[in-house]
Amino acid sequence: MKRLPVGILGSGKGSNCRVILERIRSGDLAADARVIISDVLDAPILDIAREFSVANAYLPPGRFRTRLEPEIEEALVKMLRQAGVHLVVLAGFMRVLHAPMLNAFPRRIINIHPALLPKFPGLEAWKQALAAGEIATGCTVHFVDEKIDHGQIIAQREVPILPHDTPESLHARIQGAEHQLYPAAIAEFCEKYAGPGL
Ligand code: GAR
Repeated sequence: MKRLPVGILGSGKGSNCRVILERIRSGDLAADARVIISDVLDAPILDIAREFSVANAYLPPGRFRTRLEPEIEEALVKMLRQAGVHLVVLAGFMRVLHAPMLNAFPRRIINIHPALLPKFPGLEAWKQALAAGEIATGCTVHFVDEKIDHGQIIAQREVPILPHDTPESLHARIQGAEHQLYPAAIAEFCEKYAGPGL
């Protein structure tokens, strides 16, 4: 079986990454996790990579807070290419990518965001939805472009906001939806990759 070579980038706890690796391990997802890279040295996502025996690396992010220096982004491209990555999966990677990555992997970088985009891009989107008095929010998988949490939408799942929700309870419910939506969206890339003529 032809398995889609993926690279996962994340800055945090890695719960989406864990679910993806579990689905690969159980044979549910025809992907091959080639490398997991974090811009945060002690990010739990790197521990998860080690737990699943996946190659992993810390990418020192340089002097900017929300993006990578161009030379560092070039280095990231090199790492992903050397690992043979075909699809780049952002799983809580909290930096905006620019030309080096976007040109190297056109329509091959995807992200998950905890809101129904285009509503509530940016940080702590579940708090934004609560503060706006919404009755529902959700999560979105989308292609990555040069803007924050922007780009063609691939899949969305709605999540209700309940009367007594706290930011924590709502965030947990959204993450539960993410853990179903992201592997399902990646599975579609796997099918196309394994399919004829690709
Ligand atoms: C996820 O909820 C994801 O939607 C969010 O970061 C979290 C990472 O959690 N991403 C964004 O907000 C992107 N703007 P995880 O490390 O447990 O997968």
